[in-house]
Amino acid sequence: MSSTEDLDYPQIILQYNNGFLVSKVMFTACELGVFDLLLESGDPLSLDVIAARLGTSTTGMERLLDACVGLKLLAVELTQEGALYRNTEISNIYLTKSSPKSQYHIMMYYSNTVYLCWHYLTDAVREGRNQYERAFGISSKDPFGAMYRSEEEMLKFLAGQNSVWGICGRDVLAAFDLSPFTRIYDLGGGGGALARECVSLYPNCTVTIYDLPKVVQVAKERFVPPEEPRIAFHEGDFFKDSIPEADLYILSKILHDWDDDKCGQLLAKVHKACRPGGGVLLVESLLKEDRSGPVETQLYSMNMLVQTEGKERTPAEYSTLLAAAGFREVQVKRTGKIYDAILGRK
Ligand SMILES: C[S@@+](CC[C@H](N)C(=O)[O-])C[C@H]1O[C@@H](n2cnc3c(N)ncnc32)[C@H](O)[C@@H]1O
Repeated sequence: MSSTEDLDYPQIILQYNNGFLVSKVMFTACELGVFDLLLESGDPLSLDVIAARLGTSTTGMERLLDACVGLKLLAVELTQEGALYRNTEISNIYLTKSSPKSQYHIMMYYSNTVYLCWHYLTDAVREGRNQYERAFGISSKDPFGAMYRSEEEMLKFLAGQNSVWGICGRDVLAAFDLSPFTRIYDLGGGGGALARECVSLYPNCTVTIYDLPKVVQVAKERFVPPEEPRIAFHEGDFFKDSIPEADLYILSKILHDWDDDKCGQLLAKVHKACRPGGGVLLVESLLKEDRSGPVETQLYSMNMLVQTEGKERTPAEYSTLLAAAGFREVQVKRTGKIYDAILGRK
């Protein structure tokens, strides 16, 4: 296609204009349980059956199913009895609740919480700060206080955060050989999905999930099986309370929540606590040094703007933070997936 034709038919503009419609169709089909129903059924189902089982109108469901077919999230087959819908392989793996690689929970968090903050993106860019006050009428001074404004919101957030480790937990943990580190603290370890991947990949280690007291309670009760002896818990605030000694500290998606000052304070504290010869593993989505991509990371950085005090950073920016805190021999590994790994040594 020539550049003139490109200008006559701005496919890219059309696609971006419709981007949020695409997200909402996928989120809605997940939320209503379309993919779960089709997985459980095993057989392709008609519109009438799907609408009846999910308790929706046929008018609305017909359009939702057709849009999902257009987006290749469902397949349709015309039979003598009419159209029959079934999941695609990708939907079975990523959009059903029961799959080990399910992205259902993060999608529900995006659809019902993050989406409301993005409504105020223009204000976020004008003001350079998160939008909890406008979106939810709550103070934006303490982002996690705002995120955990109810037990239900906290559960949705933690389940959402856990989802990603089913698809790229192994990659970030195998980016470096972590087997020499046996006493590991996962600072801000949340629902514990990464800790579970860690003890499965490195069976000789123990991982302590260090997080705010109410998060630790929920992680214990809802997310980490009690029969897992290699996972322990520590309730604390990593800015205010002490951090115990360990061989390795994992900070997964922690620094991206905070400005450079807070990151510096936290890393200095981690360096002080770290056993000599130990290290710190940062797990983050890395921008290219010239900030020209990856586009997912650029969008996540906007997400950090509307929701947190932080941003996504380049490897050089993380290396500078680590060096300022006293860490040395900083190594960066891009995994080729959404999240990357950076190792620093004491
Ligand atoms: C973006 S989530 C990342 C969770 C997890 N590390 C992961 O990668 O899935 C940030 C985590 O930091 C925790 N956190 C925030 N502020 C904290 C603080 N002051 N002390 C301890 N944990 C904190 C949150 O509760 C949350 O679990």
